[in-house]
Amino acid sequence: MRILLLGSGGREHALAWKIAQSAKCNKLFIAPGNAGTGAVGENVAIGVNDFDKLKEFVVEENIDMVVVGPEDPLVNGIYDAFKEDTRTVSIPVIGPSKAGAVLEGSKDFAKAFMKRHNIPTAAYETFDGTTIEEGMRFLETLKAPYVLKADGLAAGKGVLILPTLEEAKKELREMLGGMFGNASAKVVIEEFLSGIECSVFVLTDGTHYQILPEAKDYKRIGEHDTGLNTGGMGSVTPVPFATKDWMARVEERIIRPTVEGLKAEGIDYKGFIFFGLINVNGEPMVIEYNCRMGDPETESVMLRLKSDIVDLFEGVAEENLDQRQVEFDSRSAVCVMLVSGGYPEEYVKGYPITGLEDIEGSIVFHSGTTQKDGQIVTAGGRVIAVSSYGKNKEEALKKSFAEAQKIEFKDKYFRRDIGQDL
Ligand code: AMP
Ligand code: GLY
Repeated sequence: MRILLLGSGGREHALAWKIAQSAKCNKLFIAPGNAGTGAVGENVAIGVNDFDKLKEFVVEENIDMVVVGPEDPLVNGIYDAFKEDTRTVSIPVIGPSKAGAVLEGSKDFAKAFMKRHNIPTAAYETFDGTTIEEGMRFLETLKAPYVLKADGLAAGKGVLILPTLEEAKKELREMLGGMFGNASAKVVIEEFLSGIECSVFVLTDGTHYQILPEAKDYKRIGEHDTGLNTGGMGSVTPVPFATKDWMARVEERIIRPTVEGLKAEGIDYKGFIFFGLINVNGEPMVIEYNCRMGDPETESVMLRLKSDIVDLFEGVAEENLDQRQVEFDSRSAVCVMLVSGGYPEEYVKGYPITGLEDIEGSIVFHSGTTQKDGQIVTAGGRVIAVSSYGKNKEEALKKSFAEAQKIEFKDKYFRRDIGQDL
């Protein structure tokens, strides 16, 4: 098979690494890719939202399958764009239709969907510019801290957690006043849930599903979960509290009703569903849905997926995913993210990266890198993920931390407490 993977981050390098191992894959292209994906496949300089160019490329290169990494093209309707074109209608796109991607693209839709299907989540209400005063009164009925969410995609920055009612009211007014542009034209206000988070990943063909290894990610820049939110500073799989019994409840109360609900509502969904869960007094509840894999969870989860991922994608395309085998590696896997100094605020790009060839026993996934004058240089806030196996998470982390020391770029930073809270 000739496969085109879309995206350019660590998630996509990890997916590319896994796809390239498949005997079913003869040729892998990544658009646009990064310096790391270029080593497992061939990078193509087309943006993920340039549907016309992507379709042309797929036709010219006789591509058999398109795998979508990030949410943006999904929310923009890449699945539908391929289906609507006679040249590409029969080429499977692994990722949901635009109607399915709304699970991530609109928090209000996701909350209403969960309510319709009785899926456990925080109590909420949604407000817009015409109902600000109702929003203020709703805030008064809640206890601190207050959770405000921009309805639409806001580059991971759309969720505010405010300690006082005063701040919550002020931020609600600002959000509805256009703080995140159109994304905050509607704001979801919800009950604060207290617990540890866990990311659960499912691949679905619209009817059947397979559950992939779960993971925990670390979002804050500072150790012990302090400082600003980032795209993710590391991940660990398995998650100790995600026991067989807990996962059975997740499947029964959350996964099954979600897949069945999508089908019942006539929503075409053939791809990954990422359940952002929180463990509240031992019970799983949904914080959010995403319509794609997680980053940096993919950089550890792919290590534990023993099955051929292309075989699973074929199962999605042929709607017989129930007949495919999903096997997990029993070892632990972790990822430690090396980031640019200053991230997630201002940082400098273009610093040379050295030491990559000295890595032994760990797997390096490029997140924000590029090639410049024959040299690999930094090109983003999150730069390199160092992923490792271990008989337990401690052993895996020890390896990743040791290897992380060998990779050098100016102002490199990483968290040394990944996995410590588990
Ligand atoms: P989201 O973009 O919905 O994942 O929200 C970003 C982060 O905000 C989550 O990963 C949680 O850490 C936190 N968060 C979101 N909703 C809630 C909630 N209802 N209670 C507590 N924390 C939340
Ligand atoms: N790791 C969280 C995300 O990918 O959204």
